Amino acid sequence: MAVTDFEGRTAFITGGASGIGLGIAKSLEARGARIVIADLRPDHIETALKQFSGGAQSNSVSAIEIDVTNREAYAAAAEKMQADFGGIDILINNAGVGVEGPVLEARYADWDFGLGVNLGGVVNGLQCFLPQMIGHGRGGHVVNTSSLAAAVMMPEQFVIYSAGKAAVLNMSENMREALAGKGIGISVLVPAFTKSNIHEAAQNRPAHLREGSGFTESEKALSEREIGDEWMEPDEVGEMVANGILNNDLYIITHGQFKNRMRERAEAMLAATPDSDFQF
Ligand SMILES: NC(=O)c1ccc[n+]([C@@H]2O[C@H](COP(=O)([O-])OP(=O)(O)OC[C@H]3O[C@@H](n4cnc5c(N)ncnc54)[C@H](O)[C@@H]3O)[C@@H](O)[C@H]2O)c1
Repeated sequence: MAVTDFEGRTAFITGGASGIGLGIAKSLEARGARIVIADLRPDHIETALKQFSGGAQSNSVSAIEIDVTNREAYAAAAEKMQADFGGIDILINNAGVGVEGPVLEARYADWDFGLGVNLGGVVNGLQCFLPQMIGHGRGGHVVNTSSLAAAVMMPEQFVIYSAGKAAVLNMSENMREALAGKGIGISVLVPAFTKSNIHEAAQNRPAHLREGSGFTESEKALSEREIGDEWMEPDEVGEMVANGILNNDLYIITHGQFKNRMRERAEAMLAATPDSDFQF
């Protein structure tokens, strides 16, 4: 039972209190879904809830403060969704951090921070929620947020970011068949240049992963980065995601600027691949 409309459906949106996640929350709420915003940052949650009619008292929007890397907290949140709503219908694994820095300065703290949220958070979402989404039998949909940084070759300061996002892209593609057999669709959101607070990476880094980081300077520089006027509005991304869910599109790709670089990468791989008479 694919999601064909949002009325009566419950969506759990990680990183839903800011940027792209908030854009998705607004779009799905406007189309009739019940929204649960799951986010690390109480300040983001407070600002986000004001953007819905009824604010924190809204019947259709609620929020949970959670770190998606905390498996115990995540399991408890999933149990609460089961108790409160009979389980969720739409899982948006969107929380992410802009981990950026010179790769040869990277320390375990930087790998653990970047991969922990950008890949581990998605894994935790799937592990906690797929059993209930399969179990309730209503079908549903999963959206995983990757990045166009996963689809092209990127400068070295994005190595950790791109590695996590590439894994998210790949696993989304390869889970499609297994989920389809359970009535659950899956899309991978592949955005670029969208207005958001992703430059606040340092503020989202837990204290124990600040110690020994090789990215302190680059995260400071990132925090001062200006958002371009021409960058996409998160509400526009939200609309693309809502439409992508209804169409059960595998790829929801926001920008065309990287098309040539995507093609170059694919062609370079094909050029390095020997010919074979035997095709899978
Ligand atoms: N903005 C862009 O141009 C862009 C481009 C490509 C991909 N993305 C991806 O889009 C997603 C959303 O990012 P955004 O740009 O809207 O940034 P954002 O910082 O505005 O929103 C991300 C939200 O995730 C929350 N968050 C961070 N760590 C968390 C954790 N451990 N647990 C729970 N919540 C956590 C933050 O508090 C924030 O509210 C990310 O996965 C990001 O990598 C963004």
